[in-house]
Order: sequence, then structure tokens, then C-alpha cells
Amino acid sequence: MCGIVGYTGHENARDIIIDGLKKLEYRGYDSAGIAMQSKGELIVRKQKGKIANLEKTIADEHLYGTTGIGHTRWATHGVPSDLNAHPHVSGDGSIAIVHNGIVENYVELRRQLTEEYGVVFRTDTDSEVIAHLVSVLHKGKLEDAVLEAVKRMKGAYAFAAISKDEPGKIVAFRKDAPLIAGLGRGCNFIASDIPALLKYLNKIYLIENDELVICTPEQIQILDQQKNPVKREVLQVTWSLEDAEKEGYEHFMLKEIHEQPKAIRETLTRRLDENGRIRLDGISLTLEDLEHFNKIYIVACGTAYHAGLVGKYIIEKMARIPVEVDVASEFRYRDPFVDDRTLFIAISQSGETLDTLAALREAKRKGARVLSVVNVVGSSVARESDDVFYTWAGPEIAVASTKAYTTQLICLYLIALYMADLRGTISQSYYQEVLAELQAIPDKVSTIISRAGEIEELAKYLYNRDQVFFIGRGIDSAVAYEGSLKLKEVSYINSFAIAAGELKHGTIALMEPETIVIALATQDFLFDKMYSNIVEVKARMAHVVSIAKEGDEKIREESTEVIYIPRCADEVTPLLSVIPLQLFAYYVARERGEDIDKPRNLAKSVTVE
Ligand code: G6P
Repeated sequence: MCGIVGYTGHENARDIIIDGLKKLEYRGYDSAGIAMQSKGELIVRKQKGKIANLEKTIADEHLYGTTGIGHTRWATHGVPSDLNAHPHVSGDGSIAIVHNGIVENYVELRRQLTEEYGVVFRTDTDSEVIAHLVSVLHKGKLEDAVLEAVKRMKGAYAFAAISKDEPGKIVAFRKDAPLIAGLGRGCNFIASDIPALLKYLNKIYLIENDELVICTPEQIQILDQQKNPVKREVLQVTWSLEDAEKEGYEHFMLKEIHEQPKAIRETLTRRLDENGRIRLDGISLTLEDLEHFNKIYIVACGTAYHAGLVGKYIIEKMARIPVEVDVASEFRYRDPFVDDRTLFIAISQSGETLDTLAALREAKRKGARVLSVVNVVGSSVARESDDVFYTWAGPEIAVASTKAYTTQLICLYLIALYMADLRGTISQSYYQEVLAELQAIPDKVSTIISRAGEIEELAKYLYNRDQVFFIGRGIDSAVAYEGSLKLKEVSYINSFAIAAGELKHGTIALMEPETIVIALATQDFLFDKMYSNIVEVKARMAHVVSIAKEGDEKIREESTEVIYIPRCADEVTPLLSVIPLQLFAYYVARERGEDIDKPRNLAKSVTVE
């Protein structure tokens, strides 16, 4: 949710931290702040609003310090305001902290600090307790105070602290929220996410839960809670700086939509061997394992959950194993039927979504085998899974997920085909046919993107409507949910998705002349049924935009507009039909003048409940 960056070296920390924060703005953007050690004191500047506001405010100030920490916030406790923005500082001004996550027992800690130490709290945040707690426990070294503090703190968090009395030192601690340390030249960093550091380095340490990092310009030390040194392999980051830059695109969302052919190709071709067969690196499922499972659960949140809905269709169809799909926040609290005969598939772009992580732990506790589909290497979901299948999508910066979704789908197709092949539930010719269909997808996605102008025109015409319905049958209904989510996330138009067959059981009551209905009709075997649904809404004078395969001329009779996708097998249409819906959401939001990459109230990575 929030983004953290820390720098210690020999240059002015201010610009390096601000630059790093800008790369993390997708994690939260309601306020930002920076604290630096300067001439034996801590300078702190923080402000409500985007990082650019803070940058502007401090532009004319001569702020200098070679060690500092910064933060971009997504408010949980306390409204976005200058005061509630991080860093938070202890009463005596000696300690500054930045924090991501939640301190669950902050009320109790506040009371204790007030009663025992007379601490006066100035903000409504849970985070402020950390600054005071570290300060009252700070007797010698900052790391000792931090280790004492975390013994008293409950929750899921990562934070970094600096002290005015220990120049050049940043101390950070991780418990269930992302934290990395970066190895620079003559300088070192800490951060919540990799993009913040790409400009400066490509060697990082992934910090694990309950570990402390001490960062100075000369070295990075990782310690466990007993202060034993931890040996950690250096991770070479493969993402490039360009991946985290807009590179001439107006928005990251548009850039990431355009990156899909490349990302899909990357995710796919890395998994095909020289004989054109699937090689599931990172997954060690055997036929014996598959025969043992009697059920698969796919659990995720948001867009990743929608990828899971497609996963259900294809795994059941190809591998003939029953699949249940659930949102993680429901799964974790409903005592689901999970045991050692369950294969649990977690899907997560960030690998840090708290509900997904909690659901994964619950499934593991009940004995399930856990496989995850994750984009961020070394993230919590990846680390806690038995098997990990990475989506090689590169960093996704826009809050609205696009290339993560399509690459998640590719992974699910590969998993489904692989399982089906092992179990012998499909023929070799079908296996080869679907693989060939998948290999043709990147070029077909490029074709759709090259016709984006048509969708832009449509968006110009429809952008000011206040309600949009998405309907579809079978696998199209899964894509309808994703199309609807995309639209509401970035344009704030009230949109609603429903399986087309369900329309007449209630939702059709909402149809009025000119209501917009986006009808996905890509499934050849369901075409007639879907056609009837389109006729039904058209009879209520709805404005129907159909998404169909090239060559389906009949659909024009009842549709107001048709957006064609290249012909392909029914099984793989989600990889194509979602592209016009992503573009539609993007152009509608642009027409409405919305802040597309940073939609109100949303955050890229939801690391709180
Ligand atoms: C947030 C993001 C969504 C994302 C969801 C799950 O809501 O705004 O774009 O789909 O979290 O995130 P994950 O990182 O687990 O895929």
C-alpha cells in the first residue's frame, strides 16, 4: 500500500529519495514525505497530495543530507493530511520512521506510551507509535531499540528508522510487508519495492519476515531477532529502468496495454522446450500428485481473481479436475473444505496482497499443496508457496492491472494443458492445437492494439454515460467481470457484469433506452444463446457494443457497434477479448479527464485487510 525508500551514501539523499518515491507512487499517493540527517539534526518535510506537491514545496529550500528515508502514503488510519503523512518523528525529534502496513495494537501502545512516558501524540495514525516506541527504547544503538520495539508491536508491517545521533545509518525491519535492501556503489538503499531502485542498482537482498537490516554507505547487514547475522544470496534484478518509465506513453496503463504482446510472448516462450512442449519451470507436479488431488482451489483478489475465473473454465475443461474459485478475503474466513488432497493455486501480481497471503497460509495449514502464479520474484506469496510459476510481465505500475492479467492467463493455460497432458484427458492433437493458438496470441493482440483508434472513437462517443453493463456466457462471462472492473477503476462509471443467462432474473429490469451493454459473444458454441440475450436487451432499446470474432456478421444485425477480435479457438478468446475492454476503460477515463494511473481511493498492492 505505502511505498518506502531509504538512501545512505555520499550524495544528497533528497533527490534520490524523491526520485525513488515517484517510482513507487502506484503504491499510494495521498501524501508523501522525507526525513534526512543533517548537521546532527533530522530535517522532516511532508505534505498531503502527490509527490510532485512535496517536490514543488521543497524545491527552493536548501535541504542537504546524505542519509534519509521517504514515504508515499495510502491512508489506512487517519485521513490524508500533512500531519498524518510520514515520516513520523518522536517527541524529542531524535527518531524518524516511515512505515508500511498496520500496527494492530497501536491503541494499547499509545495508551502505554502516554501513561508511562508522557508521550503526546500529534497524528491519527497507527504509525506514529513506532517513532515514540523506538525513541523511548533507544538507549544505545538504533538497531537494539528497533528490535525491542518490534517485540511489543503486533500486526503486518515494514518500517525504516533513522536517528539524529547515528549518522549514515538506516535500520529497517520486516514483518509481513515487503522490504528489500539494495547494493549501490558507495551507497546502499532500502525500499518496499524494486522499481524505486532500478535507476541506481540491480543487486538486491530480499529481506524475510522478522529480519532487521542495518544499512550504512559501506555495508548492508541482515540480522535475525536474536541479532545473529543472516547470510543472504544477492538477487540480480532483471527488470530494466525503462520498464519502470513511461517511455513516451501518456500513461503507464496505456504503455502496459501495449506491452502485452511482448509480455505474453515472454511468459509463454520461456516455458516451451525445443520440441514445442510445455516445461513448467518452478513446478514439480507429477502424475501421482495429480491423481492424488480431488479438487483445486484458485484464490486471489481483484483482477487476479478474474484470471482465476478463466482458469476454472480451462482447467476443468482440459484437465477434468473440479475447480473452485474464491476471493481471498472470503476464503480465509469461511473454513473451506481443504485438505491434503487439495491443490491450492494463489494468483497475485505483487505477491504481497495480504488477503491472498492469509488464504494461502490457511490452505497450507489445512494440508493443501500450494502453487502460486506471481509476477514479483521473491515476493511473500512466492516464498511461501510449494511451487511458483512466474508471469514474466515486468513491473506493472498502473494501478489498473492489464499485462499482469493476460500473463496470468497464459500461466493458467500452460498449467491446464500440462495437467491435462499428464492425466491423458486430452489428445496430443488438441494439446498441439491449443499451444499453437497460444503462440499466435501475441500477434493477434498487436492487431487489436493497432486498431485502438476505433475504440478511442467509441469512447469519445460514450464517455459521459453513467452506467455500463457487461454480459457474456461461459468463459466470456469471466472476461465481462474484468472488463467491468477495469472501467469502474479508472473512469468511476458505475459498471456491472453478469452472466448473460442471468439477465432475465433481475438485472434486465435496469435496461432503459440507451443503456450501454457490452456483450461478449466470442464463444462459437454459445453464439445462438448469446445472440438471444443481445436481442433481449436490444428490445429494451439498449445501446449494444458487441465483442465478436472476425467473420461473425450476423451479430451486426442486433448490435449498435461491433468490435472484432481476430479469429481463434473458443478456449483462448479471453486473451484477446479483454484487450478492447482495457482500451475502452482507458480511453473513457482519458475522455473524462481522470487520473488514470492513480485512480482515487485505490492502491496497487493491498497489504492491509
Ligand atoms: C489491488 C489492485 C488490483 C489487483 C488486486 C490484487 O486491488 O488495484 O489491480 O488486481 O489488488 O493484487 P495482486 O497483486 O494480488 O494481484
